[in-house]
Amino acid sequence: MSLHESLTKMVDFDQQSFFVSAAAIAFNPTFWNIVARREYRTKFLTRLFGGNSQAACYALAATIFSLGLIRDFLYERALRDQPSHPALEEPLVKYVAYVLLAVGNIFVISSTWQLGITGTFLGDYFGILMDDIVTGFPFNITNAPMYYGSTMSFLGTALLYGKPAGILLTLHVLLVYLTAIRFENPFTAAIYAKRDRERAKATGKSVESKKEL
Ligand SMILES: *[C@@H]1O[C@H](CO)[C@@H](O)[C@H](O)[C@H]1NC(C)=O
Repeated sequence: MSLHESLTKMVDFDQQSFFVSAAAIAFNPTFWNIVARREYRTKFLTRLFGGNSQAACYALAATIFSLGLIRDFLYERALRDQPSHPALEEPLVKYVAYVLLAVGNIFVISSTWQLGITGTFLGDYFGILMDDIVTGFPFNITNAPMYYGSTMSFLGTALLYGKPAGILLTLHVLLVYLTAIRFENPFTAAIYAKRDRERAKATGKSVESKKEL
């Protein structure tokens, strides 16, 4: 049996919900990157909130969070429409699923705790920068705990339901997030590099003015 044949036996590609879920997974990071970069260039959201960048960022955070809930709902619905695989019904697989869900959620929750709402939800594009790079847990394990934690939760859910289609959708999640990381990290680094240059200039100036005194 070819890979294609065995895959089509394990995953029902006739289910529309599978593709709706895949589209929702790809849509979310695309949406927040387009909105955040536009905010960075034009401040359109901050202006919409009367110049309050904090409020604008919270509104985007609430939107991204809601889109995440919809995406999770569509993923679970897609899994329900898919066949299970006997090999994934083993107790060991369920055990691995619970570990993945637990670790995934610990990564997501602890990184939100470390970064705060604006730090988690693209505050840097609104000019709300962190004072220092966060290096504590979970950032001492991975530089993208949010993305890897979320990926683990997707895989955990797939294994819990015993659905090969979920594993395939998790691979899609991973690809989408790896693309997002490659797209976002240089931009965020550039925002902070600019801030550091401005800071260095400012302290340089204050040192100079002290010398004048
Ligand atoms: C990361 O930080 C946590 C909490 O401070 C600590 O328990 C853990 O050992 C650290 N892990 C690594 C790989 O440094």
